[in-house]
Amino acid sequence: MAGGHEVRTVEGLAKGAELDPIQEGFRQCHGLQCGFCTPGMLMTCRALLDRNPDPDEDEIREAISGQICRCTGYASIVRSVKWAAAHEAEAVAK
Ligand code: FES
Repeated sequence: MAGGHEVRTVEGLAKGAELDPIQEGFRQCHGLQCGFCTPGMLMTCRALLDRNPDPDEDEIREAISGQICRCTGYASIVRSVKWAAAHEAEAVAK
């Protein structure tokens, strides 16, 4: 099913030592605990921000609704995405 398509994984998010804003958001806002769900959450949230650079809480929760996180209660993940969105908007404005 992936034939002819680009496949991105979490290992491809960072540019060298520079974390992708969504990774930095998870770091800053404690968007992970055990880390089991984190690669999928990061890729889902990166894709959300790529198509919607300023998602509201409902849009974030809808985007991650296909994944289960047993640790965070999702609030810190939502904060992480909002953090990344704000910092990406700030970077574009510069
Ligand atoms: S951080 Fe543990 S399952 Fe999400």
